[in-house]
Amino acid sequence: MNHAEAGKPAFRIIDRLAGHASPDSAAEIIAGVAAPAASIEPKYFYDALGCRLFQAICELPEYYVTRTEAAVFEAHRTAIAKAAGTQHQLVDLGAGDCQKAACWFPALDPCRYIAVDVARGIVESALAEFAAEMPGTDFIGLIDDFSSTLNLEGIFGPEPVTFFYPGSSIGNFTPAEAVHFMEQTRRYCATAGSGLLIGVDLVKDHEVLRRAYDDATGVTAAFNKNVLNHVNKLAGTNFDAGMFDHIGLFNPDHSRIEMHLEAREAHTVSLGATTRAFAKGERIHTENSYKYTPDAFRALLSRAGFGKVEHWTDEKGWFGVFFASP
Ligand code: AVI
Repeated sequence: MNHAEAGKPAFRIIDRLAGHASPDSAAEIIAGVAAPAASIEPKYFYDALGCRLFQAICELPEYYVTRTEAAVFEAHRTAIAKAAGTQHQLVDLGAGDCQKAACWFPALDPCRYIAVDVARGIVESALAEFAAEMPGTDFIGLIDDFSSTLNLEGIFGPEPVTFFYPGSSIGNFTPAEAVHFMEQTRRYCATAGSGLLIGVDLVKDHEVLRRAYDDATGVTAAFNKNVLNHVNKLAGTNFDAGMFDHIGLFNPDHSRIEMHLEAREAHTVSLGATTRAFAKGERIHTENSYKYTPDAFRALLSRAGFGKVEHWTDEKGWFGVFFASP
């Protein structure tokens, strides 16, 4: 759909989710919580309240991730822009309100900006604003779930591409999934100068890591427990969030933060047609957030087919920004 009307600047929305039956969330949720090792996919954190709680997490003193990434971007903007190149197509993966990418518009001066996200409304309002401010740039909103398959067919032009994947969202994939995901971006990087600009949370003091996911104010606990309210709506279960405690721990064997919900007491939850009994202390695994050393992340990039890598970090070495090209 082209949004050029009565003097309004144009942007296009390509909605691959409209009119398609959504994947069977209820069946996926019930299979996950009924399993002997119960789990819920982290994508179910993000209902309207979950999105607001995640924004609040980003403001917490303990959650250094967002502000440290912003500081690395700020401190190394010129060098990063030089590595990434200007006048490219900028593909923002998980764009949301497009604010993180917008900070790069002056330095990268994209010829085309493609915001990819599942949330159409938020992308549409952001693009309306930017298209008005930057009439020389082609703005496209691609409404799609890119987590397993990245499909940019028919959207790309001939110019080099810069993929933008900030916030250490890559850490929410297993390393094998991360390689698969980055490999898909690399396949679109055939034009010289193309590459992937990605933010990665790095391994650090384990207590600093743990506190970032188990803050004193209890915001992360609320974010974790809210997933139960969301799955109740999606799957017709009757979880009582008050019956579970939030657990955020660092698992050094896998170099990852794990979040779980732990049953306070033995109790039974209705899953619709069946029930699931939880023993006291039994856990539902809700999220992994992998933390990498710079070398370990370079190795993943290499497995994904990226041969040339530059990276920047903050003074403490807490967060890495990588630019990788084939
Ligand atoms: C979205 N993602 C990068 C966050 C993270 O740090 O793994 C999600 C999060 N979970 C708890 N706090 C933040």
